[in-house]
Amino acid sequence: MLFSTLAIASLAASVFALPSSQEHFAAAPAAHSDGTDITTYAQYSANWAGAALRGHAGTIKEVTATIKIPTIHRPVDQPDGEYNASIWLGVDGDTCSSASARIGLDVTVNASGVIGQGWYSSNPGRRSYLTGPFNAGDSVKLRVTVNNATSGSLSMLLSDETNGKGASIGLSSSVPLCAQDALWVVEDPERNGALEPLADFTSVLFDTATVTLTTGEKIGPQGARAIEMYQGRAITYVDVQPSSVRITYL
Ligand SMILES: *[C@@H]1O[C@H](CO)[C@@H](O)[C@H](O)[C@H]1NC(C)=O
Ligand SMILES: *[C@@H]1O[C@H](CO)[C@@H](O)[C@H](O)[C@H]1NC(C)=O
Ligand SMILES: *[C@@H]1O[C@H](CO)[C@@H](O)[C@H](O)[C@H]1NC(C)=O
Repeated sequence: MLFSTLAIASLAASVFALPSSQEHFAAAPAAHSDGTDITTYAQYSANWAGAALRGHAGTIKEVTATIKIPTIHRPVDQPDGEYNASIWLGVDGDTCSSASARIGLDVTVNASGVIGQGWYSSNPGRRSYLTGPFNAGDSVKLRVTVNNATSGSLSMLLSDETNGKGASIGLSSSVPLCAQDALWVVEDPERNGALEPLADFTSVLFDTATVTLTTGEKIGPQGARAIEMYQGRAITYVDVQPSSVRITYL
């Protein structure tokens, strides 16, 4: 498989600022009126859903999983147009708000069909884009490795195992990592502070989701907090299993 190794500086042209998810980690809404689809202890966010595993500072070395790019749809009650869903994993950005390292894909559905756009980011939340194509149905391995939390040294991988596209990236965060959060997420992407129209992403499975600890021990997402997306109603169901995280659009 052929990967390009990219230096972050060479990609400065294709970045834009993205507020950290932490800022949008809304408090749980008041009790749901019909009380049916929400467990009382679930946590909610306006713009992301997924699993968040918290370790002690300096304990997380690597987060990985393989996803299949979903065939996303326009939500049934929405007009024609363009809809997106952002699928990523990473280290920090939840209980650690000072740093975050992420890699994943934005999946777009519009009149042209469904297409994935690969990207990665490190603090302060700027994204760099990867050359695809990344198509619905492709199996994509994602990985973030903290080489040195103090210096901010990171390695990331996005590998489309279906068509051989992807990139292996070495980069540096401008701030130290906490190396304490592991995240597997579907996000409603935002631009200029506003949420974009969210696609019906059906279901996203982070398979063989693994965290490697700095001790060398490998663990799964079991015990991670499930965060559901709430936009007027709960629109996701997160299922955390010993070695996978599934996020279903309701
Ligand atoms: C659909 O979205 C893709 C990705 O953003 C874009 O390249 C393409 O031009 C869009 N097609 C239409 C018809 O808007
Ligand atoms: C990590 O980076 C710090 C700061 O640059 C450095 O002092 C330290 O030696 C590095 N640790 C390792 C294990 O390389
Ligand atoms: C969806 O994502 C694509 C790729 O990041 C972007 O070009 C497009 O503007 C987004 N669409 C909407 C409706 O925000």
